[in-house]
Amino acid sequence: MTKYEQLQEHLKDNQNIWLVTGVAGFIGSNLLEKLLILNQKVVGLDNFDTGHQHNIDQAIEDANKATGKDLSGNFKFINGDIREIEDCKQACDGVDYVLHQAALGSVPRSIEDPINTNRANIDGFLNMLVASKDANVKRFVYAASSSTYGDHPDLPKVEDKIGSPLSPYAVTKVVNELYANVFAKTYGFKTIGLRYFNIFGKRQDPNGAYAAVIPKWVAAILNKEDVFINGDGETSRDFCYIDNTVQMNLLAATTDNDEATDQVYNVALNDRTSLNKLYQMIEERLIQRISGLEKKKPIYRDFRAGDVRHSQANINKAKTLLDYQPKFMISKGMDESMDWYVEHLN
Ligand SMILES: NC(=O)c1ccc[n+]([C@@H]2O[C@H](COP(=O)([O-])OP(=O)(O)OC[C@H]3O[C@@H](n4cnc5c(N)ncnc54)[C@H](O)[C@@H]3O)[C@@H](O)[C@H]2O)c1
Repeated sequence: MTKYEQLQEHLKDNQNIWLVTGVAGFIGSNLLEKLLILNQKVVGLDNFDTGHQHNIDQAIEDANKATGKDLSGNFKFINGDIREIEDCKQACDGVDYVLHQAALGSVPRSIEDPINTNRANIDGFLNMLVASKDANVKRFVYAASSSTYGDHPDLPKVEDKIGSPLSPYAVTKVVNELYANVFAKTYGFKTIGLRYFNIFGKRQDPNGAYAAVIPKWVAAILNKEDVFINGDGETSRDFCYIDNTVQMNLLAATTDNDEATDQVYNVALNDRTSLNKLYQMIEERLIQRISGLEKKKPIYRDFRAGDVRHSQANINKAKTLLDYQPKFMISKGMDESMDWYVEHLN
């Protein structure tokens, strides 16, 4: 049995209270679903800035389906804002573990609107950190980002070698890590940061100007619209399926390895897929699933400001200190995701 399998068995018999901020978003709603399946109680905080009520509803419905139970009573939602300290305090009250996901994502959004990105991602983060410390939660795990590597040229990326940030978004995620580290030094409040690489999977939003590449392309292909590739298509990323991300959050929250806390970890696969290859993987799977859908060439346009050329993670630290064992390689994750998108978007 892997550490994660053991943990899941343990949690089923031991109920804890978890706070998931950003619960109406992509990653937050997947955390909610898994925690409910594992018989946990969940408090969710969100202001619906980029999240949706339907993500919460689907997460509960999917958890109910998976267990054959009505788990809605184990979830309490707070419609609140991490920029308000009182909302954070209310949400942290009586909580064992905090999984802090709420933020304004997207590099281009932060270039358009650095002030609001800063407010949610730095002011909001600090509020959550203070509220979690004051509530004496057992662990604060937060969504960090691979954008923190900035212009550092090394590949694969190792946690202790970062460069200068390339966008306002990246600055906010670097600052999160600085605050987290200072809270360990000054208050003995030890956190864990998860540097997500490109996470994908069910409920990732295909709509809006700042949609992530996979859902955006899926929606375009399904609607028979043009797909745009920024640059020559050889830009590459370490795409990581949501199930692996959920695993990392649960392992990080519950670890009793003291060396593993006050740390940041890459959350990825140590794999690299170019945008050209990604397009091919998506198109191939959608054509297999939908009759009448035909191959179409993507349109190449300029590189996007603030984007790094290649990204790939070394994941040894997570494997060693947290026993992380990603179960879904990219192609299996893609199969699962495309099944979901075809059912929900088509
Ligand atoms: N998806 C990825 O590939 C990826 C990569 C790196 C880092 N991250 C980080 O992971 C976290 C979750 O990302 P996601 O992809 O699920 O994004 P998402 O936009 O789907 O979810 C974010 C959620 O936070 C909520 N939120 C935003 N501002 C808020 C505020 N002020 N108060 C309360 N709630 C607020 C939104 O409404 C949304 O539901 C973010 O911190 C993001 O920066 C994601």
